[in-house]
Amino acid sequence: MGQIILPEAIPSMRAIVAMDPSGVIGFRGRLPWHLPEDLRLFRSMTMGHTLLMGRKTFESLAKPLPGRTCWILSRRGDGDGRFHHAPAQVFSSVDAMLRAVRAELPPMKFWVAGGAEIYNQLAPHCVEIIQTALVDNYAGDSHWQIPPGFVRGEVILSTNKFTTYRWHRYFMNEGGSKMT
Ligand SMILES: NC(=O)c1ccc[n+]([C@@H]2O[C@H](COP(=O)([O-])OP(=O)(O)OC[C@H]3O[C@@H](n4cnc5c(N)ncnc54)[C@H](OP(=O)(O)O)[C@@H]3O)[C@@H](O)[C@H]2O)c1
Repeated sequence: MGQIILPEAIPSMRAIVAMDPSGVIGFRGRLPWHLPEDLRLFRSMTMGHTLLMGRKTFESLAKPLPGRTCWILSRRGDGDGRFHHAPAQVFSSVDAMLRAVRAELPPMKFWVAGGAEIYNQLAPHCVEIIQTALVDNYAGDSHWQIPPGFVRGEVILSTNKFTTYRWHRYFMNEGGSKMT
């Protein structure tokens, strides 16, 4: 069996995502669903922490999220002051953002909060992924899947519309078995 080479894990970094059974996470720049219970869970898990998100996801927010700071990835940076209306910091590369994340001391926590481009680049560095798995399928143009290197753990919340799981990053021991 091929060995999975995982990128360096950053202990303060987790990802949080909601997806339908085929991996749809967004449609026309928005969430395709409205699930108040999942939004409440997102709020309680991320409150007081820093959200890492792509420029498109940030622009999709109706208003700044109370109690949370946003760190935004945009190749154009913030030279034109686009993001000054919100408590936000802008990074023009993943490396610059990850350097800043590593420089912060506990108890500071970071949540990778989408969209697909940002999950693809940052979730592999996370120690956990909180995944809300929806029961129904939705039309979508933005997709994502949990990357290799994570194993599904406990159920955090279950309703008739979705189940939320905690995924743990795993490591291989010398015998080739998975260790979480
Ligand atoms: N279901 C969920 O849990 C969930 C969560 C969040 C978002 N979403 C959905 O996801 C969709 C948006 O996802 P998306 O993939 O289209 O966009 P996105 O990841 O939110 O943002 C993409 C933007 O991020 C910037 N970026 C990406 N990689 C970069 C890098 N390496 N360096 C610097 N900047 C970088 C670029 O901004 P510039 O163009 O400014 O350079 C790029 O256009 C929406 O439909 C949203 O509702 C779903």
